[in-house]
Amino acid sequence: MSSLIVYMSLHGCAGKAAHRLAEMSWQKVDLVNLRNQAPPPIDSYDTVIVGGSVHMGQVQGKIRRFCADNEAKLLTKRLGLFLCHIYEGEEAVKQFNYAYSKNLRNHAVSKGLFGGEFNMEKMNIFERALIKKTAGLDGSISRINNKAIEDFGKVIFHLDKS
Ligand SMILES: Cc1cc2nc3c(=O)[nH]c(=O)nc-3n(C[C@H](O)[C@H](O)[C@H](O)COP(=O)(O)O)c2cc1C
Repeated sequence: MSSLIVYMSLHGCAGKAAHRLAEMSWQKVDLVNLRNQAPPPIDSYDTVIVGGSVHMGQVQGKIRRFCADNEAKLLTKRLGLFLCHIYEGEEAVKQFNYAYSKNLRNHAVSKGLFGGEFNMEKMNIFERALIKKTAGLDGSISRINNKAIEDFGKVIFHLDKS
């Protein structure tokens, strides 16, 4: 069984989730960050996890493109899809549904809404000003849903059966 996690993270949150998932598997997991790595060929993998984060209402374009370019192949894999975001409840679900096609969502065995964090140190001056204005925040906050990450990992890597 070979696994691949393709993710994109601007300030580190989706990256943390991707690395935590990779640690959960007993098998080797290849990690590819589309921020600085080319989209990998996925033919040789049995399990593929795709994850991004929401900025200004949308998942990263590179994640959407990767999913669109590979949709037919992803539909033959054991598939997991996750998203990092700060909105919760219905709005988070809406963002997830907007990020991934209906075909992929229906096929995925694990779907994860992992929450997110505002990391002021990683933001540029414009992002900091925007977050201060829209969310009224001056400092960093973390609302990562670690349980959602663990639950996702248990299902995708069959850990609940051991
Ligand atoms: C400039 C900016 C815009 C954002 N816009 C949204 C948004 O529209 N919806 C949302 O749920 N979260 C939004 N967020 C929160 C991010 O999804 C959250 O910070 C997430 O943890 C980022 O993940 P990353 O560090 O992997 O990029 C925004 C964050 C920033 C800095």
